[in-house]
Amino acid sequence: GPGLNKYAQAAGLKYFGSATDNPELTDQPYIAILSNTNEFGQITPGNSMKWDATEPTQNTFTFSGGDAILNLAKGNGQILRAHNLVWYSQLPSWVTSGSWTNATLTAAMTNHISNVAGHYKGEVYCWDAVNEPFNDDGTFRTDVFYNTIGQSYIATALQAARKADPNAKLYINDYNIEGPGAKSTAMINLVTSLKAQGVPIDGIGVQGHLIVGELPSGIEQNLAAFAALGVEVAITELDIRMTLPSTPALLAQQQKDYQTVVAACKAVSACVGITIWDYTDKYSWVPATFSGQGAACPWDANLGIKAAYNGILAGF
Ligand code: XIL
Repeated sequence: GPGLNKYAQAAGLKYFGSATDNPELTDQPYIAILSNTNEFGQITPGNSMKWDATEPTQNTFTFSGGDAILNLAKGNGQILRAHNLVWYSQLPSWVTSGSWTNATLTAAMTNHISNVAGHYKGEVYCWDAVNEPFNDDGTFRTDVFYNTIGQSYIATALQAARKADPNAKLYINDYNIEGPGAKSTAMINLVTSLKAQGVPIDGIGVQGHLIVGELPSGIEQNLAAFAALGVEVAITELDIRMTLPSTPALLAQQQKDYQTVVAACKAVSACVGITIWDYTDKYSWVPATFSGQGAACPWDANLGIKAAYNGILAGF
């Protein structure tokens, strides 16, 4: 195609990117497209920098999976969004079923952050330092970190990440914050309070796991409200799924929906980039997660471009 990253950069964004995952790295035709910097200027590791992958037993770190994806990106001349440091999901059982006090879990969490972000120091564009801290109603998710440490785990995590890699931009990343609503308001309140306390926070990541024909209204205004806090904004995990089987009508609506999201980011100067949560239906996480749904990506399972691809170009 003409090039998603080329169009994004011509429109003033820093990058258009894709997630990828280690099992896919042996698929040569897949890698050829992923490595084309006309299409992708940025890569996110879909799994291999998460806590269960990097610290499966306490204080024993494995970086081989994450390193493989960083090396691919570096070899291609692409930047890397590192994902993630603190999240309720994909935690090893020693974290979820440990008997913690505030002090011992704070120590384990900051040790995780200083080792993982320290290993990648100077190599990554940003970290999703805290992932998915909110419930959909805007209350804090009651995971092991919140329950043991309280809301301050977020500030502590950000401070530890800044110390470990002073040049990485630090994001809080969440889903269902594409449009205005209780969860977006909660994000605004959190970032406002972090900034007031002098806690390092550089960006709000808007995941963008959306449904064809069901985009929230007010995406552009919502991104602008985030940007008004003095942080950058990124669409970090975009995919737009449908109930299978796909039809020409659904694929046409999907094209429009991709265009809408891209145009909203383009319209907000602090929206620095857009990442799709893998570029092809061949490797999308959607069918395994949302039963009966799929076809969420701009490339089909045979690595052919879909109408959605043209929707992205049109959005720029
Ligand atoms: C997903 C991966 O794509 C899957 O392979 C894995 O089984 C589960 O996690 N929000 C996030 C991502 O922040 O880390 C998730 O990635 C998708 C939802």
